[in-house]
Formats: sequence, C-alpha cells, structure tokens
Amino acid sequence: MAFLPFARPDITEAEISAVVATMRSGWLTTGPNCAAFEREFVEFLGADAEAIAVNSATAGLHLAFEAIGVRPGTEVLVPTWTFTSTAEAVRYLGGDPVLVDVDPLTLCIDLADAERKVTERTVAIAPVHFAGLGVPDGALTDFAERHGLRIVEDAAHSFPTLNEGTLIGAHGHDATVYSFYATKTMTTGEGGMVVTPDAELAARMRTMRLHGINRDVFDRYSSKKPSWHYDVVAPGYKYNLTDTAAAMGRVQLQRSHEMAAKRAAIAARYDEAFAGLPVVLPAHAPDGSTHSWHLYVLRLTDEAPLGRDGFVQRMADAGVGTSVHFIPLHLQPYWRDTYHHAPEDFPVASAQFERCVSLPIFSSMTDDDVDHVVEAVTGILA
Ligand SMILES: Cc1ncc(COP(=O)(O)O)c(C=O)c1O
Repeated sequence: MAFLPFARPDITEAEISAVVATMRSGWLTTGPNCAAFEREFVEFLGADAEAIAVNSATAGLHLAFEAIGVRPGTEVLVPTWTFTSTAEAVRYLGGDPVLVDVDPLTLCIDLADAERKVTERTVAIAPVHFAGLGVPDGALTDFAERHGLRIVEDAAHSFPTLNEGTLIGAHGHDATVYSFYATKTMTTGEGGMVVTPDAELAARMRTMRLHGINRDVFDRYSSKKPSWHYDVVAPGYKYNLTDTAAAMGRVQLQRSHEMAAKRAAIAARYDEAFAGLPVVLPAHAPDGSTHSWHLYVLRLTDEAPLGRDGFVQRMADAGVGTSVHFIPLHLQPYWRDTYHHAPEDFPVASAQFERCVSLPIFSSMTDDDVDHVVEAVTGILA
C-alpha cells in the first residue's frame, strides 16, 4: 500500500479553475478577490467585524500585536503548547511572551496557571484553540476582563469551530487570527486572515499590512484619486495576500462545511477504533461547541507497549506519516535559553509532550486511507 502522508490539501477542479481565471484576469496581487474573500469570510462567521487577508497567520499575529500596542516592556500570555509563531510575533515588537502551562485534557492554555503569571506589564492573552477545540469563551472573557487584558486569539487550528454557541472569530475579541497554510482545515497554500470588530485596529492593520501606506494598491489603481499618490504613515510590513491565493480561499470557504464534516467523520471513526487501546483519546467539545479536527492527537499511556518515538517509527514502517504537535516552546533552545525555562516549570506540557502523536486527518482522505491508519495503530498497540 502506498505511503500515506501526514497531511495533503483538499483541492478540487473548482479551486484550480478559480486560480486559473484569476491568472487570466490581469490582476494577480491584492485586489477584487481579496476584497471578496474578506467580505465572505466575516459573512461566514456571522461576525459584526472586519477581515484583513494576510499572507500567513504569523503575519496576522504580528499585525494584531502591533495594533493592540505590544511594545518593549509589555508582556503577552502565550501557552507553551503552540507553534513558535504565537510567541515570536510578540518578540518582533520587543515584547515578552510569558509562557503558560496547559490543561492536561485539552492541551489548551490553563487559565489557573495564566492567573499566576499576570504582572503589571501584561497587556494581552493569546489563547491557542489547540487542534481545533476552543478555549471556553466565557472563562477566557472573564479572565481578560478581570485583568484588563486584550485578547488575540490564535485560531490557526480552529476554522470553523463553534465555541459556546458562537463561531470563533465572532465573539468580539480584539483580534482572531487564522492560518491557511497548506495543512490547515482550509488553505490558500500560504495565507491567513485577521478578524476584528474594532474599526481602529482594522485600519491600523490594513495600513501596516502594506508598508504603512494608507491605501491598498488596488484602491490606488482603481479609485478616482491620482493613482500615483500614497502616504507612508509608518514603517509597515509586506503582508498582503495575492488575488490568486484569495481565489483559492474563496472556493475553500464555500467547501468548508463539507470538509469539516469529513474531518469529523474521520475523528469519530478513530475514536471508535482506538477506544480500547492504551491511549488517551483527544478531548471532545462540550455541548454547544464543536471541534474542527485540524489535528487528531493521541497520547500513549504507560500501558502502551512502546514509547512515542518507537510508535512514530512503527507507523512509518507501516506506511503512515505522523507528526508531533507540539514540541512545547519552553523546550525549544531559543525560548528555553532566553527566558531560562526548565521542563519542570511546565509540568503538564513537559509530560504530555513525551506521549503525544498526531495521526493523519484531512478531508481528502479516502475510506481506505482511514482503514490504513486504523490497522496500523491497532496493529502496533492492540
Ligand atoms: C498554533 C499556530 N499558530 C500559528 C501558526 C502559523 O501559521 P502560518 O504558517 O500561517 O504563519 C501555526 C502553524 O502551524 C500554528 O500551528
């Protein structure tokens, strides 16, 4: 049987046609497709908000932290269980990410540990809705309000995810940042979106997205003002999304319910197949919330016949690609050495890291692909 990769994008003829049509249109960079993608994205979320298309979630996090005022001397609470982007975007601005341990079941930020880490320099919390499961919104909002903090949600994994009855991105938090990287639940190859209900933050992020210029290129060439004129009001970045990418994203957005249903069906099949094995199954969403199943993360228990690294090897031998999400930031050389972190400072994340493994879960998997994974896992662990 052919090797099953850990992830593969779900691209149909519709995405291909949309990209080709854009290539033929004469407009490749940020333009009508981006504008439509932004509009359709907030419509999908049902959010009274603006969306700002960017070329990665990392860029979106940078813009969001810049707009809310992260600067040298400020701190942002970040779970150690995340990709380095969430924290590095704080460092770009000279701020300090303060790492927080995670809940042992959900692997999302532990608000009790966050409580201990708030200082007079803390300006924001950046929860990561890990794997596609929301950090309970009531508790998050209450925490931020009590401490007077901004909320920048890292929603790289959580499109679309219902969190206590409302889709993530529509709760009115300062900024919600999505990733459309190739492995995500919807993709533009590389890309991302920032959603904010705050018109001032939106204006700042739009400006900083394109060199600190106060008009988008498309506006510049299509509005009535002289096309050569623009004002540079800040040393901004180059974070705009191309129209070819946005064309792909618009089709993926239309297909997102169908793709989410496929992921959920795969997760249900795995849950059933692995129930009796020496593993901890992924946490499920409570009533009123959903899981987007960007990742399906198993944790091997002490009863498992082998450790995580051995399991990864045996899965590869059985023709199945796996991955590990995440190597917690406090174990990464830069974060460990810069902030003098030790494994025992984050007991939950350090222990869970040793046991966790992510299985393939993507909407273009066939039934045979899913059977292949089930047989490999049960063959190794049963
Ligand atoms: C939690 C989290 N945040 C941010 C990112 C960065 O996304 P991007 O590659 O779009 O910058 C990732 C990417 O894997 C991620 O997993």
